[in-house]
Amino acid sequence: MAINSVEITRIITDYIHSNSAKRITFAEYMDLALYHSEYGYYSSDKVEIGSQGDFFTSSSLGTDYGELLVEQFIGIWQIMGKPNHFDLVEMGAGLGFLAQDILSFLQVKYPDFFQVINYIIIEKSPTLINKQQELLVNFVNKICWQGWDKIKSKSLVGCCFSNELIDAFPVHKVTIKNGELKEVYVTVSESGFREIVDDISTDKLTEYFNLVKVNFPNETYSEGYQTEVNLAALDWLNLVNDKLKMGYILTIDYGYSAIKYYHPQRYQGTLKCYYQHRHHDNPYLNIGCQDITSHVDFTALQNYGNLLGLTNIGYTQQAMFLMALGLGDRLDQLRNNTYNFQELLARRDALHQLIDPTGLGGFGVLIQGKNAPENVILKGFNFS
Ligand SMILES: C[S@@+](CC[C@H](N)C(=O)[O-])C[C@H]1O[C@@H](n2cnc3c(N)ncnc32)[C@H](O)[C@@H]1O
Repeated sequence: MAINSVEITRIITDYIHSNSAKRITFAEYMDLALYHSEYGYYSSDKVEIGSQGDFFTSSSLGTDYGELLVEQFIGIWQIMGKPNHFDLVEMGAGLGFLAQDILSFLQVKYPDFFQVINYIIIEKSPTLINKQQELLVNFVNKICWQGWDKIKSKSLVGCCFSNELIDAFPVHKVTIKNGELKEVYVTVSESGFREIVDDISTDKLTEYFNLVKVNFPNETYSEGYQTEVNLAALDWLNLVNDKLKMGYILTIDYGYSAIKYYHPQRYQGTLKCYYQHRHHDNPYLNIGCQDITSHVDFTALQNYGNLLGLTNIGYTQQAMFLMALGLGDRLDQLRNNTYNFQELLARRDALHQLIDPTGLGGFGVLIQGKNAPENVILKGFNFS
């Protein structure tokens, strides 16, 4: 049964009515449904991440994922000449499990590196910041929670990373009508929210397809073809690039290259909603109680990054990345452990899930560099 948050439904309805055209872009709708400061999905107490929640992420599967990421971070620190101040910036930290796994492992295995780390969490949801602070109570002196506005331009030296952040950004929905690029808007009808199609709200949508070098629309796309454009991802990259003085940006998420993303056969786009561990494609159900996401266009991040002066250092799939960081060794070591049979099966299953090519293992992993050693093969991208 669908459960809408009454408050967020009223807030979005009022916002649409206050708009002179009586409609808002889908990106505005998604932003309110997910991030309204009180009643959005991520700001309410409804957000559930984990095997019993609405969705789970790599860090829901135990400590391996965070520990393997540490192997990449230490490699970056070494390549950068072991600076005595290293900013490790986690963007979109969810419940805080990844930060906990990373810091716990660093403290024990790489104490020298741990010493020089300044761990910053950039998190949009006040509710999740509270949950993170409760979980990470042992590391409160090591972590600072900050908004981007408090971080000076070109001040960060180190690595800014995110896991499943970009897929949670509000997207514009676009479509093809009479062979032309049009935008999908949200309006209010007697039966609830309804989509209407009209001219695009911003030329940035056209510019986006030029950026990713996709000729959209053209005759190979069918009338009514729908897809999404994540302009917020470009704004975000611009911001991170501005704050970074020297170092790397590591982005892990589900997604495709632009050619695959905007393939004529993908005529309904990639938008998905997650509610109590089931997914569907109706963002007007369970409003404020469900996650809404879309896949990431990695070509956009790469091409826009180049325009900003970033260098593409590596792009691969999570399975390859984690194997290069030592996941295979962890599987081997399971033979010599003290687990009981149930624990052994659970851990082996978790490791396999992280590299399952049809699931988490198929995620994209992109690393971009700024003013940092570029002709390097980072450990997670070294497959020899
Ligand atoms: C899908 S969850 C992923 C959480 C976590 N990284 C994980 O792997 O479990 C997305 C996270 O990004 C946060 N978020 C979304 N937009 C953000 C933004 N613009 N800046 C910072 N955090 C953001 C959400 O509040 C949430 O914590």
